[in-house]
Amino acid sequence: MTQFRKPTGLIGKFLAKGMAWGHRDFYKNTAKMLNLKHDDKYLEIGFGSGLFIKKYASHVSRIAGLDYSEDMVKLASNINKNIVRSGKAEFIHGDISSLPWQNDKFSIVVCIETFFFWSEPLVALKEIYRVLIPGGRLVIEMAYNKDDGLDHTKHIEKMKLNLYSANEMKEILKEAGFKSIVIDYYKGVRIPFKGYVVPRGMVVKATKKTD
Ligand SMILES: C[S@@+](CC[C@H](N)C(=O)[O-])C[C@H]1O[C@@H](n2cnc3c(N)ncnc32)[C@H](O)[C@@H]1O
Repeated sequence: MTQFRKPTGLIGKFLAKGMAWGHRDFYKNTAKMLNLKHDDKYLEIGFGSGLFIKKYASHVSRIAGLDYSEDMVKLASNINKNIVRSGKAEFIHGDISSLPWQNDKFSIVVCIETFFFWSEPLVALKEIYRVLIPGGRLVIEMAYNKDDGLDHTKHIEKMKLNLYSANEMKEILKEAGFKSIVIDYYKGVRIPFKGYVVPRGMVVKATKKTD
């Protein structure tokens, strides 16, 4: 289970690619909220395999990614080697609690199936706010959340998950400075091999203030 939190080694690489396949419906539901533009400067936190980036790389002008698994940095850099070589993309090893970029750098930040692993969510959101340009967007996808009606006791214990309701997300995002917070849900996504369906996956969108 810790491999989901921080994929490492050969198993981690294998799992990350499998996860991208298993997460394909999560990716589709996230993509609907992104509204990517050709001049977007895109940052993804916890990119895992980097396959979501590969799929949408041509939609944006510049890409960066940060993940705290060194093996995921290697895997995503390899999977996206053409855009890394061309200078369009960079994949960095680091923790969300301290982002290695200057203020006002990105127009969009994306986090898929990773926010619920972060131990200091407010610190993380303030860091994301700092590196976003005014008016920049943040999109967070979480298949598991407190509004989905499932009993997550097992996952919370095994994966040390922090689950959130829509109201909790709104509160913490406001505290970090965000505005225009929209919570959307998607329905009925099957989790391959696990034999059940995510009844209510959550996608959160928020914007950095322009003043
Ligand atoms: C469940 S995987 C999701 C990977 C990918 N987003 C996907 O959906 O296929 C979670 C990812 O978040 C990364 N991660 C977890 N906590 C992190 C943190 N504090 N800082 C940076 N990356 C983190 C993990 O290393 C892992 O690659």
